[in-house]
Amino acid sequence: MTAVTNIVVIISGNGSNLQSIIDSIESGQLNARISLVISNNAEAFGLIRAQNHGLANQVIDHHDFEDRALFDQTLLQTVISQHPDYIVLAGFMRILGRDFIQTFENRIINIHPSILPHYKGLNTHQRALDNGESEHGVSIHIVTAELDDGPVLLQCRYPIEAEDSVADLQQKGHQLEHRMYPQLLQWLCSGDLQIGENSIVFKQQEIHQPVEFGSV
Ligand code: GRF
Repeated sequence: MTAVTNIVVIISGNGSNLQSIIDSIESGQLNARISLVISNNAEAFGLIRAQNHGLANQVIDHHDFEDRALFDQTLLQTVISQHPDYIVLAGFMRILGRDFIQTFENRIINIHPSILPHYKGLNTHQRALDNGESEHGVSIHIVTAELDDGPVLLQCRYPIEAEDSVADLQQKGHQLEHRMYPQLLQWLCSGDLQIGENSIVFKQQEIHQPVEFGSV
C-alpha cells in the first residue's frame, strides 16, 4: 500500500480554499491527509474550519517574533517536523524566507487570483478592473524565491463583464479556486503531475505551459 500524501496547509484568513481541500479529502476525491494547518493570524477563520474537522492547527504569529528571520526559522522547523510531501499555501499573506523555499524546493504550491504572469502581488481584481481587462483568472504555481513567479501548473480564465465589481470577480475566482486546488493536488498525489528538478510532467508528457483547467 502506498502512503497517503501528507500536506501542510498554511493560511492567513478565511480559509475557503482550505475548506475545499478538506471537503475533497473527506469525500474521497483527494487522496491526501492534512497533518497540520498553520496560520500566521490567530483570528483566521480557517483555524475554526480546521478545528471543526479535527485537524491539528497552530498559530505562528509573525508579530510574536523580533525579526523576520526568527519567524521564518520557527515556521520552517514546524513544517519540517511534519515531514510533508507538499506545502499548500491557501491565502497565506506573507513572503516565505529563502531557507524555507530551498528546503522544500518544488514542493510548495500557491494559488493566486490572476492569470500569471499578469497581476502578481496584491489587489489583482481592482487592478484588472482599473485597466479595463476583458478577462481575469486563477493560477496555481510552484513557489520560488520571486513573488508569484514560479512555474504555473494550472490556470483558468474567466470573462470580466462590464458591470463586474471587485466582489464579483472575487466570487467568480473563488468558485474556480475551490475546484482547481483539490484537482491539482489530486494530480500531484496520484503521480499524474510530477514536478522534477528540470521538468514538469503531466500525464506522462512534459509540459511547458500551464494546464488549462477544464481542458483535461
Ligand atoms: C484566494 O483568493 C487566493 O487566490 C489568494 O488568497 C485568497 C484566499 O482565500 N491567494 P481563502 O482564505 O482561501 O478564502
